[in-house]
Amino acid sequence: MMAPSGRKRPPAATTFILLCILSSLCVCKAQFKPADSYLVDCGSPKSTTVGQRTFASDGASPVKVSTSQEILAGTSANGVASFDNSALYQTARIFTSPSSYTFPIQKQGRHFIRLYFFPFTYQSYDLALAKFTVSTQDVLLLSDFQQPDKTAPLFKEYSLNITRDTLVISFKPSNGIAFINAIEVVSVPDDLIVDAAQMVNPMQQYSGLSAQPLETVYRVNMGGPKVTPDNDTLSRTWVTDQKYLLNPTVTKKFAYGKDVNYKKGGATQLTAPDIVYGTVTELAASNTSNALFNMTWQFDVDAGFSYLIRFHFCDIVSKALNQLYFNAYVGGFFAQNNLDLSVMSDNQLATATYIDVVLSSNDASSKLGISIGPSTLNNVLPDGILNGLEVMKISTGGSAFTVGSGTGNKNLGVILGAVLGGAGLLIIIVVLVLLCRKKKTLEKQHSKTWMPFSINGLTSLSTGSRTSYGTTLTSGLNGSYGYRFAFSVLQEATNNFDENWVIGVGGFGKVYKGVMRDETKVAVKRGNPKSQQGLNEFRTEIELLSRLRHRHLVSLIGYCDERNEMILVYEYMEKGTLKSHLYGSDNPSLNWKQRLEVCIGAARGLHYLHTGSAKAIIHRDVKSANILLDENLLAKVADFGLSKTGPELDQTHVSTAVKGSFGYLDPEYFRRQQLTEKSDVYSFGVVLLEVLCARPVIDPTLPREMVNLAEWGMKWQKRGELHQIVDQRISGTIRPDSLRKFGETVEKCLADYGVERPSMGDVLWNLEYVLQLQDADSTVSDVNSMNRIVELPSQVQNVGALESISVTMAEAGASNDPDHDLSDVSMSRVFSQLIKAEGR
Ligand SMILES: *[C@@H]1O[C@H](CO)[C@@H](O)[C@H](O)[C@H]1NC(C)=O
Ligand SMILES: *[C@@H]1O[C@H](CO)[C@@H](O)[C@H](O)[C@H]1NC(C)=O
Ligand SMILES: *[C@@H]1O[C@H](CO)[C@@H](O)[C@H](O)[C@H]1NC(C)=O
Ligand SMILES: *[C@@H]1O[C@H](CO)[C@@H](O)[C@H](O)[C@H]1NC(C)=O
Repeated sequence: MMAPSGRKRPPAATTFILLCILSSLCVCKAQFKPADSYLVDCGSPKSTTVGQRTFASDGASPVKVSTSQEILAGTSANGVASFDNSALYQTARIFTSPSSYTFPIQKQGRHFIRLYFFPFTYQSYDLALAKFTVSTQDVLLLSDFQQPDKTAPLFKEYSLNITRDTLVISFKPSNGIAFINAIEVVSVPDDLIVDAAQMVNPMQQYSGLSAQPLETVYRVNMGGPKVTPDNDTLSRTWVTDQKYLLNPTVTKKFAYGKDVNYKKGGATQLTAPDIVYGTVTELAASNTSNALFNMTWQFDVDAGFSYLIRFHFCDIVSKALNQLYFNAYVGGFFAQNNLDLSVMSDNQLATATYIDVVLSSNDASSKLGISIGPSTLNNVLPDGILNGLEVMKISTGGSAFTVGSGTGNKNLGVILGAVLGGAGLLIIIVVLVLLCRKKKTLEKQHSKTWMPFSINGLTSLSTGSRTSYGTTLTSGLNGSYGYRFAFSVLQEATNNFDENWVIGVGGFGKVYKGVMRDETKVAVKRGNPKSQQGLNEFRTEIELLSRLRHRHLVSLIGYCDERNEMILVYEYMEKGTLKSHLYGSDNPSLNWKQRLEVCIGAARGLHYLHTGSAKAIIHRDVKSANILLDENLLAKVADFGLSKTGPELDQTHVSTAVKGSFGYLDPEYFRRQQLTEKSDVYSFGVVLLEVLCARPVIDPTLPREMVNLAEWGMKWQKRGELHQIVDQRISGTIRPDSLRKFGETVEKCLADYGVERPSMGDVLWNLEYVLQLQDADSTVSDVNSMNRIVELPSQVQNVGALESISVTMAEAGASNDPDHDLSDVSMSRVFSQLIKAEGR
């Protein structure tokens, strides 16, 4: 089938290696060739060279000037000699009527527009008296602008996303004359400004930056020298930070002297030059553990604008990873809490990173304070660093950058308000969409009609008013009850919330057993209506559960929001919690295979949470009491009240009290205050130990070293003697290979660092393999189970087997929701087919 291509390989490989070498060479030097690069020395009849750059003479093609009167002005070299780029300020073009420069744009996208002004007197024109407006077709850059300081030049830099084929910069005199000394229009790398940033108040994502015009107001190299355009590939100027420091005595400077690292997805050499990342201002209090100071830089800004603040960080001061933790503040608000640069930089010191933060116009005052302060974590020395900082004024278009006019960015609030308001709507839409999907035959009919309901739904959910749209909903459901239950129905089903019917109690409220009129059993979770926290969790849960359908997740049947109640109705899980089958109850003991099947089911549920939707969902409270068993001992993961979606994890939750359950909590969570999917993997590792040893994860009655199951279990695992602590009831029945693989899996889950832990998918795969080893006959070969099927070429040929089984089983299980899971496919059977086929 596959033609051997041994001969062709060497040249191909060589080419590949050469390409690698070449491309890595290219990466070493920051290079950027701007598609558009216009440098114009206005008013100058000849071109002018400053540093390594040459500014063309005014009016040289292809830049066009249109003006009614050609006035090319000049002043003596002495008058400007003390300024940076002095040659550019020696000439100016003067306009006495509206005039413009036109630049052809080769590549649309972000461009720097840099304007140079210095008011000198030329003949009868005193430029210091000039007052004028500068704009592009889309953005007002300067409005009725007058040089604030007549004795110094003024330099303005804007970054505009130009979406036209030509850029026209217009000058309009307000009282007779306008002028300009030099102009730059230069392409900016596409990824320099990304669309999203983090807002500080409230803590949430801000997006839409890529279209917004920005004005650079400060660009600072902390702890290092001034960087001139010649030393920056993008010809930016970075000034020193000392004059902005409020309390220089608590700071010290440091220069690294070696090359800093750049990692994929982080900062590049174009984000800021090496010299910015290679120098730093650090908190000097770093070895006096009780001196807690912030270092603060203060900048004069225009109040009433929103600002994009870019922090440049590079940990060039630490000797080891995960030792530097600090906080960053913008305008008095938390921008970063217990920031750990090691985590941001894939665990490599001296790696360049940056963080974009947006301060809204409502919070900006005329003094912008940027502070770096020590972390309040225990066992962390007070320290903190900052390598560079950029402060950019955000404009929303037409009324932009009006110097001193103080009109703010009002749109932002409106947009955010709309977004927040929309969230409630979304929840209901989601519930209804789900509803529509329940019965495939009704799909089309429903998708046309859910919109109007959603509006009622929102009102109903957010105010608790008793709108009755239930009839419409229930009629479409072909069943005795709908997704929104009447309170009276649940009252009846739970024997009026009989305390004797309580089957569980959680942070959210009590869980009752319920029996509907048609004898269907349900679990009714009744929230405490008074707590706002509860209401949020209620919504979270409805939203999440209705998005998620999986055989190994406990299904939401409906909810009730009548009378301000927050009640969730779930499918009833006959056999209760996994925990109750391990210890502390009279339930019969599960054998090793049953326990593994349960673990595999739960792992599958969690894997789906992590990967089943666009945004990973972190469970946050994985424990044996949240793994429920149905009458066939099928495991389902429960309790999403604490769940939060993954990558864009709302920062407010990071700083709130730790949620989750003691004994299961990821230790890295304490260090980083950040949750990832890997926190769930850790907790699941603890569950695996619990399943093996059948004892509580924390048991204070035991001798000290035994109290914490995770520690105790790992101790035995590391000694290679895990068998010593296996539940007596099953210890004789576990095959050594199976136990060995199981122990290895636990150990990987419980790794100290999230990055070292496997994904849930890998855990699942490993557990399948553990089960195989338990069932094993002699043909099972020890493939490296950490690899996925697709990574094992010899098995690829057997994919046919997998497909045929999936199809059969999907058909068999069609009455369940087959969308996301080959629910009824026993993965172990699939795996066994693959392994055996390979063995042949
Ligand atoms: C410029 O704006 C357009 C739309 O307004 C957007 O699609 C594009 O990504 C932006 N370019 C950059 C470089 O941000
Ligand atoms: C800037 O560049 C010049 C030459 O281009 C070099 O001599 C100088 O050391 C550089 N300065 C810094 C701070 O890198
Ligand atoms: C740190 O402590 C040592 C000894 O107490 C002292 O000599 C040194 O100057 C301190 N360093 C700083 C940066 O405060
Ligand atoms: C640092 O500044 C922030 C914001 O202004 C403030 O909340 C915090 O208390 C300060 N920390 C110290 C140690 O002064």
